Amino acid sequence: MLETQDSKHRETAVLTALIGRVSPVRVVAPGPANADLDQILAAGVRAPDHGRLRPWRFLLIRGDARQRFGDVLAKALRLRKQEVSESALQAEHDKPLRAPLIIVVVAAVRGNTKVPAIEQIVSAGAAAQNMLVAAHALGYGGFWRTGDAAYDDHVKQSFGLTADDEIVGFLYLGHIETPGRPKTPDPVGVVEEWTGLPAGPA
Ligand SMILES: Cc1cc2nc3c(=O)[nH]c(=O)nc-3n(C[C@H](O)[C@H](O)[C@H](O)COP(=O)(O)O)c2cc1C
Repeated sequence: MLETQDSKHRETAVLTALIGRVSPVRVVAPGPANADLDQILAAGVRAPDHGRLRPWRFLLIRGDARQRFGDVLAKALRLRKQEVSESALQAEHDKPLRAPLIIVVVAAVRGNTKVPAIEQIVSAGAAAQNMLVAAHALGYGGFWRTGDAAYDDHVKQSFGLTADDEIVGFLYLGHIETPGRPKTPDPVGVVEEWTGLPAGPA
């Protein structure tokens, strides 16, 4: 049911995390402690998963590997664009340094199943959201990025992905240095009551 003026808000830890999560402006080292990372990954694999396919791969990039990821991003940008400035290449190279940990969330889409590809990709998206919310609940900040790099063949090859795999997001996680602006949840304009067949020609 939609919230009405008469109904009371119920507060639970889960709802507080779901509704209160915002993307931070800036995160810094250190990344999540190992025990916390285990919890974050456990939340990821609890995403709804039609057919129990586990159509996910979570690639962890941290430490010096972020520099190598930056090399991959810069090379991919150079391959995509004939003319690109040195400053744009440097900015692309430095993106992974925005956080101590990046989780690349991959939908490892299986072809030999009745479960449509879109359901496997949505499941990977749910895994990404579960991990962002888990990180938030544990006191970390995380933001979700894609951009052209997520759909880039050179990037996918560098991760050893196949043509059927889809990168659904790069999750940048760390300690919150600059928090994001709190947001008020507002379902207005998104929710409609459906009461029967749509009007129109029979
Ligand atoms: C699949 C996906 C990809 C996204 N990619 C980007 C991106 O590349 N750049 C960006 O600025 N925001 C991107 N966003 C949006 C941010 O992660 C974030 O949700 C948005 O800025 C709203 O902030 P909030 O999370 O605090 O509501 C993406 C979100 C999703 C779901």
